[in-house]
Amino acid sequence: AWIKITMAKVKIDKESCIGCGACESLCPEAFKMKDGKAEFKGKGNEKCLKDAADSCPVNAISIK
Ligand code: F3S
Repeated sequence: AWIKITMAKVKIDKESCIGCGACESLCPEAFKMKDGKAEFKGKGNEKCLKDAADSCPVNAISIK
């Protein structure tokens, strides 16, 4: 069977990030907090990434 692999591009705007932590709680596989800002861990499934981006109060996460 074929397995589809999707690599989303993720960008965190660290200037806008206010450290709310929603991204980490919703998608801990992809985001971790460091020095009060979100950091991308370089992986994460698309749904979870999207949930995190949608939930960021300052829209600091962009996905394409
Ligand atoms: Fe920052 Fe938004 Fe995550 S404010 S900590 S990128 S939910």
